Parts: sequence; C-alpha cells; structure tokens
Amino acid sequence: MEAPALSQQGATPGGEPLGLAIDTTFDDTSVALLRGRRRVLANVTLSQYADHAEFGGVVPERASRRHLEVIHPLIEAALEEAGRAESAPVRLQDVDYVAVSNLPGLLGSILVGMTVAKSLAYLLGKPLIGVNHIEAHPYANVLEHGEPAFPLMHLVAAGGHTVLIHQTDHFAWRIVGRSVDDAAGECVDKVAKLFGHPMPGGPAVDKAAMTHEPGPYDFPRPLLNDPGLDFSFSGLKTAMTYFLRDCGDAVPEEGPVLAAFFRSVTDVLTAKTLRAASQYGANGVTVSGGLAASRRLRQAFEAACAEAGVALYYPPPRLCTDNAAMVACLAAYRYEAGRWDDLTLEGYPNLPM
Ligand code: KG4
Ligand code: ZN
Repeated sequence: MEAPALSQQGATPGGEPLGLAIDTTFDDTSVALLRGRRRVLANVTLSQYADHAEFGGVVPERASRRHLEVIHPLIEAALEEAGRAESAPVRLQDVDYVAVSNLPGLLGSILVGMTVAKSLAYLLGKPLIGVNHIEAHPYANVLEHGEPAFPLMHLVAAGGHTVLIHQTDHFAWRIVGRSVDDAAGECVDKVAKLFGHPMPGGPAVDKAAMTHEPGPYDFPRPLLNDPGLDFSFSGLKTAMTYFLRDCGDAVPEEGPVLAAFFRSVTDVLTAKTLRAASQYGANGVTVSGGLAASRRLRQAFEAACAEAGVALYYPPPRLCTDNAAMVACLAAYRYEAGRWDDLTLEGYPNLPM
C-alpha cells in the first residue's frame, strides 16, 4: 500500500490523522486512539493479573481467551472516551490507520490483537501498521516530552525484557544490550513473591526501597563491572533465595532486605545505561517499561544522570506499564512516513537480535 499525499491525510479535512492502536502482547489488553503524533484521545487498558493469580504466573491459553473476551468492549470504550476528548462523536470510520503490536510476546495473545486489527483495517479500507512493542515503549516519552532529541540511549525495563536501545532517528535503532537471562522486572516480581507479595511485585519492592535503608544487607550486582552492555538478573534472584533459606527461622525484617535487593537492581541499570550512553555518544537517556514506574528507580536515574550531565526522560507511571498509546505514537510516525504493512503481516514471539 502506498501512503496518500499529505493533504489527503486525516478523516477530518485538513485535520490530523486519527490512529487506532491495539496491544495484546502479554497479559494486558490495551486500546488507544491518537490524534496526530501526540494527542491521546483514549488509552484504555485492562490488566489480567487477577485472572492468573491462582496459577502464580500468566497462563498463555487463558491470556488469549481473556484478550478475546475484552477486546471489542475495550474498542467501544476507547471510542467513547475519544468522543469525550474531542467533544464530538469518534467513530471507527473516522480512523485513518490501524496499528497493532505484532512482536514480541505470547504468540497466542499477539494473534488476538492482530486478527482484530487486520479485520478492522480490511473493513475500513485503511492501512495496517505492525509495531514492535519494545521499540514502542520509549515513545511513551514522545507523548510526554515531545519530539525526541536524537541520538538517545533507551533503557526499556519491563516484565519480560530488559534492553538498551541506541536510537539515532525514527525507525533507526539497534539493541546494544539485553538481559542474557531474566528481565529485571521478572527478577523483581520473583523476589517479591519470595516475600509473599502478589503479582506484580514491583510496587511492593519500590515501596520498601522508598521507605527503608539497606542497613547491613548487600547483594550481588551482576555484570556491573563487566565492560559489555548486557544484563543478567537470574543470579541475583538465586542469591535472594539462598539468603532467605540461610536465614531459616530468623526471618529478617523485609523492608531493609528488599531495599538492599532493589539497590543492586538500580545500581546495575543506571551504571550500564550511562555507560552505554557515553559509549554511543547519546544526547540523553530515556527510561520506560513497567519498572520505570518505580519512584526509587527514577531517583537513582536522576542522581546518575545529573552527575554525568546527561539529559533524562521518563514517562508518567501510566505510560510506563504496557499501553497502546505508545504503540499509536510510534505508528503515527510510521503512518506519516508511509511505512505501512498489509494483511500478510505476521506475529512473532521473540525480539530479533
Ligand atoms: O512493561 P510492563 O507493564 O510489562 C511488560 O511489558 O512486561 O512491566 C511490568 C513490570 C513488572 O515487573 C512490574 O512488577 C513492574 O513492571 N512494575 C513496577 C511498578 N509498576 C509495575 N515496578 C516498580 N514500581 C512500580 N510502580
Ligand atoms: Zn511492555
């Protein structure tokens, strides 16, 4: 498909294009409507944490089924919310392009979003734009802070991925570091679980880190002094398991232990991100993904970036965790540039190297 001439863009004559975006990559179902590049008219997300609580983790088949149950009501809710934002009805026919995250994540979940997106694109006769969910996370910062000042070093710290992305322009980016095992968020969730906290454990760990000092505790900072830019968090999780086992019945006060644990996580994330920014000559650093909602992590980045004299950007918490608004934002640039997909678009569980 070819991009229309700019003058033809936008359902409203002379208006900015309206994008509909869907994200069902993991356990959140999210739908957003975006006007132009940055005006979020609606961003509605339904979390499935409660649906999987009894299993202690996300059950892929159950996640797909849940996405299927809620996606259409969520699209309707998003249209209604967008109508309130525009003070005029917003209908599906007004949409100029349909965006969907087609990687990475649970393939069964991704396929639900893709099937709905493809059907809508086909029925509306509008372009389909497949978006890499990890490439989209930093665009939460574009929604919040405006046009990015490339080159940037992005840390995407989410439940399923911890990656460093060097971006020199829209669509021009490369992963320069990633976790070789567990993601930081996964490690945080598992350690929180050791202390009896339900999923997602990040907020409980963040609260402990905000209200306690590490005291006598000090845990490993994996790969901190390794010159490479990759991360490893499974050893830290194991260290926490052994620490608790060795405590036996002398159960330590939770707050200081979790504060010390989280200090290890934030020390590694800040040090590696700033090293990457320096190595690649980035103008600034962005932090996104669910873990970026942590107040302690933000404080750690503020201190580290101030000391290094590097600009720092992070989104508000609601745009850190999974949401379709960030997907819509990246898709808006793709729409303008004519970088569209067609109905042969496929979904992929993995993030390419
Ligand atoms: O980006 P996200 O919503 O999902 C994935 O793409 O994986 O990230 C989820 C992760 C979980 O590990 C969760 O515990 C963590 O983000 N998280 C937080 C906070 N909110 C979510 N961690 C610390 N503080 C928070 N407020
Ligand atoms: Zn995510």
